[in-house]
Amino acid sequence: MEKILIFDTTLRDGEQAPGASLTAEQKLEVAFQLEKLGVDIIEAGFPVASPGDFNAVNSVARSVKKCVVCGLARCVKADIEAVHKSLIKARNPRIHVFLATSKIHLQYKFKKAEDEIIDLVKYALRLSRNYFSDIEFSPEDATRTDKNFLFRVIETAINEGAKTINVPDTVGYSYPHEISSLISSITNNVPNINKAVISIHCHDDLGMASANSLSAILGGARQIHCTINGIGERAGNASLEEIVMALKTRHDVFGQFYNNINTKELCRTSKAVSTLTGFIVPPNKAIVGDNAFRHESGIHQDAVLKKRTTYEIIDPKDVGMEKSGLVLGKHSGRHALIARLKNLGLKLDEKKVDLIFKRFKDLADKKKEIFDDDLVALVEEETREKRKGYELVSIRVFTGTDVKPEATVRIKYKKKIYEAKSSGDGPVDACYKAIDKITKIKTKLITYGLEAITKGRDAQGLARVEIQAKARYIHGKGASTDILEASAKAYLDALSRLG
Ligand code: KIV
Ligand code: ZN
Repeated sequence: MEKILIFDTTLRDGEQAPGASLTAEQKLEVAFQLEKLGVDIIEAGFPVASPGDFNAVNSVARSVKKCVVCGLARCVKADIEAVHKSLIKARNPRIHVFLATSKIHLQYKFKKAEDEIIDLVKYALRLSRNYFSDIEFSPEDATRTDKNFLFRVIETAINEGAKTINVPDTVGYSYPHEISSLISSITNNVPNINKAVISIHCHDDLGMASANSLSAILGGARQIHCTINGIGERAGNASLEEIVMALKTRHDVFGQFYNNINTKELCRTSKAVSTLTGFIVPPNKAIVGDNAFRHESGIHQDAVLKKRTTYEIIDPKDVGMEKSGLVLGKHSGRHALIARLKNLGLKLDEKKVDLIFKRFKDLADKKKEIFDDDLVALVEEETREKRKGYELVSIRVFTGTDVKPEATVRIKYKKKIYEAKSSGDGPVDACYKAIDKITKIKTKLITYGLEAITKGRDAQGLARVEIQAKARYIHGKGASTDILEASAKAYLDALSRLG
């Protein structure tokens, strides 16, 4: 059996998704969950990009024990040294060096000739060799690179010490048969290729990232770059859960391969990444979407009851998709809460449990039954409010069919309380205008959505917003049994994420 290495880049390419940004503490939380999931390599970030990212990579490197921890670098001295310094405490450090090789990038991005690119690869890998024995090299935009030049770049990188050659489909342009034939042609035309592992890195611009990654395995790739929930630059990256479950489910095709992933941790990891990044998982998302194992039509339901596999190719238990029938309420104690949280994969320290328990009791006063999704929302609220930023103290809204809505909002920011009042086109608009008066940040509301977290009239409302501010797009979420409070919280969450 041959091993497929799972290289997770949720914390690097995934975090490049517009609107997703994680603090060092949140990156660490994701890294621990990835370790539990069993990924082989965690690409923790791009240390030279910002002091925040440097610190995040550094803290992942110090804390993660089982996985290789990797940092990204351009063929630039400062980048390579930043990766070296950030990974100094890692048990198994890896540097990932990249350089674009396609004509379009050479001509417009670099204005460099092919020979200059070869020289840069030599320079960067020689420098990397001073610090690292585990070196991965990516010819960026490989799938749009002239083949002969690509072979030359790869041969050079291996001669200079690269142990892994990653082939990026940077703009998600290829489709499956092209990818497998590209990987085979690399195997057949690069003379020293047997000294390196071939890896694949697919983007989802045409919706084929996961299929392309699987096809690369058939062509000879033995490492896959992927992200949880498929998040990443633009349309995202290949989704870890899809690839891993395809490998498992289609044993007839991929039977000679194995990997280290504990698939029972997939849903938990998906939830954690969604909670921390604020990126929703669409209900119809393969493997981890809420509807992935729901059957609506009577014919399907009837057949599944008779024999599950009539309409289910995956057992929901295999991906950790188990909904508990257990419901908590105001009489439930701390132990019951801890047990449920544990079951949901939410690892909390004593202090956090205290805070959640208080929130739980407050919610139980407003809502008779507390479902699993309510608990997840409570933990998400706690995580959001911990982010240094704007905190809602109170909100008062006057509205009706025949009055102009008016809102008074009180916010805590850097230990001070601010209050403002505004009217608006609707009650939410009035709230947001009052908040704008306090923050003085110019924003544009791109999307606003509201949904019930669970069933019942007393369900919590979950508000989601996307705003444009300071030339960035940022997502925010807020939950409450009061939908205006949820809306204000979502807006403040987005503003706090702006940093
Ligand atoms: O998409 C891409 O080409 C990348 C490289 C840095 C590997 O993310
Ligand atoms: Zn990428």
